[in-house]
Amino acid sequence: MIVFESSCCRVSCFLALLVVLIAVALQILGNSEPIEVLSMDLNSLEETYRGGNKSCFILGASGETGKVLLKEIVERKLFSRITLIGRRQLTFEDKAYENVAQEVVDFEKLDDHAAAFQGHDVGYCCLGTTKAKAGTEGFIRVDHDYVLKSAELAKAGGCSHFNLESSKGADKTSSFLYLKVKGQVEADIEQLDFERYSVFRPAVLMVDREESRPAEWMARKFLGAFSSVFPTAMSIPIGSVARAMLANTLIQGEKKVEILENKAIYDLGQKGEK
Ligand SMILES: NC(=O)c1ccc[n+]([C@@H]2O[C@H](COP(=O)([O-])OP(=O)(O)OC[C@H]3O[C@@H](n4cnc5c(N)ncnc54)[C@H](OP(=O)(O)O)[C@@H]3O)[C@@H](O)[C@H]2O)c1
Repeated sequence: MIVFESSCCRVSCFLALLVVLIAVALQILGNSEPIEVLSMDLNSLEETYRGGNKSCFILGASGETGKVLLKEIVERKLFSRITLIGRRQLTFEDKAYENVAQEVVDFEKLDDHAAAFQGHDVGYCCLGTTKAKAGTEGFIRVDHDYVLKSAELAKAGGCSHFNLESSKGADKTSSFLYLKVKGQVEADIEQLDFERYSVFRPAVLMVDREESRPAEWMARKFLGAFSSVFPTAMSIPIGSVARAMLANTLIQGEKKVEILENKAIYDLGQKGEK
């Protein structure tokens, strides 16, 4: 019995050490990503941006990232028109949201809703589901087909800057379905040739999710301790993603297509914090 307990203890210590080493390695690798440190003052960029009377749409505003993104957009009053495009009507108690327009669409018949995508300068896509929730076909349908079709309609409707929330490790050649689909939709949208296309690749989103997802809950609990020491090794606070998307919008980047990896998102998110 004593022998068994001490073996278990040794295995646990080894696993804990292994995870710490992986986290350190990921953090170091993450740090090696090229990061353009902003020397510009985001407050003055916000002022200038507001004067441009731009409009935006958000896909997935009822989701965890979308909610935070919408809140930041509303609070910062960056756009003269905000449209939420989703499969259901959302209700907001806060008066600050009263001018937010909503377009309820059938994602299976998006062509019938082309008008919803008309006339927006900037589009944010935080749409997505999971294989566990929707099955393999359903996951591909949402994370690839709905996202790509929305991007096509946005482009046709005059959108010049499309922002896609993708995922760390997205790679169209991956043998993992999730990463493959994310990489494929990234690549397919690039073909649409937006004036500006920004791809965000966050790691595990740190958020107290409303919806019950046991596997993600376990991962977050497990990563929670590490994230305070290694904030970008395997995860990222959801607020950082939303703030980074907005800070990036304000910067008139020179690149037509840009991919922001987890560490770059985190740094930009910190910069965009009020
Ligand atoms: N979770 C993570 O740790 C993680 C990590 C990296 C990247 N990502 C990616 O980041 C993106 C946003 O993630 P999130 O966790 O913030 O999203 P989320 O909370 O799961 O929200 C997803 C959004 O997509 C909508 N949606 C889902 N299925 C739909 C369907 N069949 N038809 C129409 N709309 C549908 C949801 O609308 P309803 O509210 O109506 O369901 C919701 O607005 C996703 O693409 C995800 O893959 C996530």
